[in-house]
Amino acid sequence: MSEILTAKTVNELKTEVRLWRSRGFRVGLVPTMGALHDGHLSLVKHVLEVADRCVVSLFINPKQFSTGEDFEIYPRQISADLHKLQSAGAHLAYLPTVDQMYPEGFCTRISLDGPASGLEGDLRPYFFSGVATVVTKLLLQALPDVAIFGEKDYQQVCVIRRVVKDLDIPVEVMSAPIARDAQGLALSSRNSYLNDNELRIARQLNKVLFSMSDALTSGADPIFIIDKTRAALRECGFDNVDYVALRKMETFGPWQPGDDGYLIGAVRIGKTRIWDGVRIAGPRQ
Ligand code: PAF
Repeated sequence: MSEILTAKTVNELKTEVRLWRSRGFRVGLVPTMGALHDGHLSLVKHVLEVADRCVVSLFINPKQFSTGEDFEIYPRQISADLHKLQSAGAHLAYLPTVDQMYPEGFCTRISLDGPASGLEGDLRPYFFSGVATVVTKLLLQALPDVAIFGEKDYQQVCVIRRVVKDLDIPVEVMSAPIARDAQGLALSSRNSYLNDNELRIARQLNKVLFSMSDALTSGADPIFIIDKTRAALRECGFDNVDYVALRKMETFGPWQPGDDGYLIGAVRIGKTRIWDGVRIAGPRQ
């Protein structure tokens, strides 16, 4: 196993990627905020199936957090992350500082509509513009052939696809299914905030979503299922059900029976928000 390279500046990143390109390598990018878990490592694996070299960015992006969110306490564990990335076969970890990413005078921000409206867009006013701004920068800095995002934040995947299309960024956007632990809990760096009791409650989210998606696939009425899902989640002990929604794959538009889609839910337990989503299959081909 060769040692993972690190780049702390845009120039270091560009120099390495340029070298790979001169050798004819296809390059993939996995944007992350660090605190890596098996879900992130599965993204590295997917990228290595379609690219010769894999860059993983680890950058906790202040622009996508609102006041009162968890920017300050977001887990930071760089040396463990580097170790995991090296074992997963990633080639380069990109670790820019906030000053490197947003130098003095930085004043650009991408503003969005479409898939960024509603749900997370309503609850976290800075989130999607912050994500779109940093992801656009990362794509333009690394100029990868392909970039991959996890489907746990499915609205984010749809927003990024739209940004890439709208801004003609020459990259293929891939997404990968949600990675889960043995009991079905969607892996998330924020799961580390949960105590034992909260974790027990959190484990119910996927169970409720899976059972409701089965009901939908068997033809249950979508409006009834959304109400029932909210009620079931409240009964599980979540402190708040931020939303439950049915959305169409790709566009994130409203879901109709027969569409490929996602049943998604965002809930709060104590101070922690968690998300999950379950795919609803469209008609059989
Ligand atoms: O999903 C995340 O971890 C972040 O939103 C991303 C895409 C790395 C941008 O900061």
